[in-house]
Amino acid sequence: MTSDIKNNEPVIAAYKPCLVSLEEGKRYFWCSCGRSKKQPFCDGSHAGTKFTPLMFVADKSEDVLLCACKRTRAGPFCDGAHNNLQDTYEEASADEIATMSDAKLVERDPKSGGKAILDGGAYVLTPDPAQDEHNGTLACQTLIGARHGAKHLGLLRMLANPGISPWRRHEDSDTVLFVISGNGHINIEGKIFKVGPETGIYVKSGEAFQIQAETSMTIMAAICPHNGTMSWPDAPPNGPDSRFDRKFAERRVGVDNEKANVMADRFFQVLVDDLVGSRQITQFIGEVPLSRAAFHRHLYEEAIVILSGEGMMWTEHCRAPVKPGDVIFLSKRQGHSLECTDPNGLRLMGAFYPAGSPAINY
Ligand code: FES
Repeated sequence: MTSDIKNNEPVIAAYKPCLVSLEEGKRYFWCSCGRSKKQPFCDGSHAGTKFTPLMFVADKSEDVLLCACKRTRAGPFCDGAHNNLQDTYEEASADEIATMSDAKLVERDPKSGGKAILDGGAYVLTPDPAQDEHNGTLACQTLIGARHGAKHLGLLRMLANPGISPWRRHEDSDTVLFVISGNGHINIEGKIFKVGPETGIYVKSGEAFQIQAETSMTIMAAICPHNGTMSWPDAPPNGPDSRFDRKFAERRVGVDNEKANVMADRFFQVLVDDLVGSRQITQFIGEVPLSRAAFHRHLYEEAIVILSGEGMMWTEHCRAPVKPGDVIFLSKRQGHSLECTDPNGLRLMGAFYPAGSPAINY
């Protein structure tokens, strides 16, 4: 335990949050001083300091990550602030690397549609264009969904030839688009957004959208919940009958280095989140230097798309190489570690449910 009390700062009890199962209606006292031996809860050790515990009542029974570094701005919950307390991102230790050295190298299996299936149903997939469904200018392929073992999240790859695509609509699910390459416009029921590489766009459930491609475009669509199908509706009405939700008039988010969060020696930027109306899915872009992250888990289900660079995805007993265009699926709580083996770094887009911060893991 680091002692910082002399600076009137709370003690850093740990550099990672604590996983806790809360019970609905129960009262908890979160330690804010960092001295408690019963982290993340209070044991009275704050006596004589300026700190007092934070009392809260669980509004539902659920697993949560409570802050142990005591630097969160969302107390008692971890908000990822612990990542900025160290000069380097937590990398796999020599012990971890030795323990996992016999992890099986998994090949893509044609019988499972080209997936390399890792532990816990996680997989790496290189999309096979032969599986695409064609309609007009679009070639679409579901890469993550219920039949792939996902509980909530779907991922659809859309290749758009130059021209105007048919309309697409999901009545009950939100869709978050990410342009991997190409230029054009996304029309959401009459509201048109200019897009290019690395633009994220939120489409609310019930709204129809169309891709107006100036050049060939590759677009990933994260969908939540994934049940039901994305239809091919007729052109929706324009003007006052449009279903475009004007409460969230701006739906497009691009990469902006000013908004990037530096997490030690790597960075990420949240693109689509609730600021543009997306309450279910958070989409982010990140860059990882030549390194191997420490093994960790999230309380969310996640889709990752490799944009550039090469690496290796590790789970408990398996590993599979990744390269640009590959998709990774990780179920909630699946332990994993992404290694970048490329001296130029690895760039990725991630989308996950439930929405939150990509900096939070345990
Ligand atoms: S443990 Fe404190 S912010 Fe995550």
